[in-house]
Amino acid sequence: MRTLQGRVGVVTGGAGGLGRAIGERFAAAGMRVVLADVQAEPLERTVAECRDAGMEVIGVQTDVTNFASVEALRDATLSAFGSVHVVCNNAGIGAGAEGRMWEHELNDWKWAIGVNMMGVVHGINAFVPVMLEQNDEGHIVNTSSGNGGVSPLPSTPQYAATKAAVVTITECLYGQLQEIDAKVSASVLFPGPHILRTGLFESWRSRTEEFAKERPRKTPYTTVEALEAQMKAAGVTIAYTPVEEVAERVVVGLLANDFWIHPGSERGDNQLRARTESMLHRTNPTYLRAVPG
Ligand SMILES: NC(=O)c1ccc[n+]([C@@H]2O[C@H](COP(=O)([O-])OP(=O)(O)OC[C@H]3O[C@@H](n4cnc5c(N)ncnc54)[C@H](O)[C@@H]3O)[C@@H](O)[C@H]2O)c1
Repeated sequence: MRTLQGRVGVVTGGAGGLGRAIGERFAAAGMRVVLADVQAEPLERTVAECRDAGMEVIGVQTDVTNFASVEALRDATLSAFGSVHVVCNNAGIGAGAEGRMWEHELNDWKWAIGVNMMGVVHGINAFVPVMLEQNDEGHIVNTSSGNGGVSPLPSTPQYAATKAAVVTITECLYGQLQEIDAKVSASVLFPGPHILRTGLFESWRSRTEEFAKERPRKTPYTTVEALEAQMKAAGVTIAYTPVEEVAERVVVGLLANDFWIHPGSERGDNQLRARTESMLHRTNPTYLRAVPG
C-alpha cells in the first residue's frame, strides 16, 4: 500500500487484544475502521471507547467460522464506507484442550479449524473478489504465530496446526495474486517476538455452542494470572511484547508491501533454522519446545 490515509480497514477479533491495537493504529494512520468480533459486549464497549477517542469506526458482530456472517461483515463495511482496502483476518483462539493429543475432543479440533483456519478462508473468499473489482490497492493480512507458523509447541496441536495452515494459505494467496498482477496483495503476520498479554489464554470465553465441549472439564479453565503463576513456579519468566508494537509493525509492513510481517529474533530464527535443517538433513526433530516464548 502506498498510503493508508483515507483507506478502509477491517479487523476481525477486533474487540480486544491485538485486533483492537491494529484498529487503533489504522485510525491513527487516517483510516476508517471496521472492528468485527464474535463477542458482542466487549465489541460494543471497544467501539464506544474508540469513538470517544475520535476514531471513525463501526463494530460488526461477526462469527468468522460462518461464511454468511463474514459476507454480512463485508456488506456492512461497504454500506458504511463504500469500499474496503485492508482486511486483517486476525480472530484466533487457543483451543485449550486437556490432556494428550489422543485424548482431545474432536470439537477442540473443529473449533480451532473453524476460527483460526476457516476464518481466514472466509475472509479471503468474502473480501478478495470485491477488492479486485475495485481495481484499487488492497491488502489481506493473515495472523499466524511462531507456534505452528515456524515450528509447533507439541502441547498445542490444534493451535499449531491451524497457524501453520495460515502461512500456507497466505503463500498460495500471494502467489495467485502475483500471477494475475493484481493490485491486491497479502501478508502473513507473526505477532511477537514474545507472547502478547491478551485474551488468547482465556479463549474459552468466545467458544460458541456449535463447538461446545463434549465432556465436562477435569481442570478449571485457565486465566492469564494462573498461567503466569504456573510458569513462575516452573522457574520461567514470561516476557511480553506490547500489542502496540505489533500493530506498528503491521502498518510498517503494509507500507513496505512486506509478505513476512515478522519481528525476527535470535531465538525465533534459530528455531526456524533448526527445523529447516532437520528437514534438509533428514534428521529427527530436536527443536520441539516445551513452553511458549
Ligand atoms: N497472544 C499471543 O501471544 C499471540 C501470539 C501469536 C499469535 N497470536 C494471534 O493473534 C491473534 C489475536 O489474538 P490476541 O492475542 O489478540 O487474543 P484475543 O483473545 O485478545 O483476541 C482474539 C479475538 O478473537 C475473537 N474471536 C474468537 N473467535 C471468534 C470468531 N469465531 N469470530 C470472530 N471473532 C472471534 C475473540 O472474541 C477475541 O476478541 C490471534 O489470531 C492469535 O492466534 C497471538
